[in-house]
Amino acid sequence: MLMLLISLFACATENRENDILALSGDVANGEALFATCSGCHGADGAGDENIQGEGGRGALETILYGEDGMPAYEGWADQDLADVLAYVETL
Ligand code: HEC
Repeated sequence: MLMLLISLFACATENRENDILALSGDVANGEALFATCSGCHGADGAGDENIQGEGGRGALETILYGEDGMPAYEGWADQDLADVLAYVETL
């Protein structure tokens, strides 16, 4: 039963990533949202944690779930996550 729940959870999170990756991101809104991120990453993405050149599923997973000092943004709406990811991909 536990394994079933774990695999259902893994599947649900992957579906959410697919849903977000399928959205078309609004770069202008993503830039506005990036004000939340620029304290650590710098306005141009080249701050303490340089994220220039990052993008795609790997970057989305870190934004969603966090990692070593990077906060999780699972609470954001899918469209906002798609928008901020689209902006990150322009850095
Ligand atoms: C409190 C500081 C902090 C804030 C705020 C923050 N990050 Fe991060 N971020 C980090 C750190 C630290 C890492 C490196 C994590 C690691 O190396 O495991 C990171 C890593 C990343 C990565 C690299 C992922 C990868 O797999 O290479 C991306 C992309 C990223 N952040 C995007 C964002 C976005 C978008 C926001 C705002 C929504 C944000 N971050 C807010 C600290 C922060």
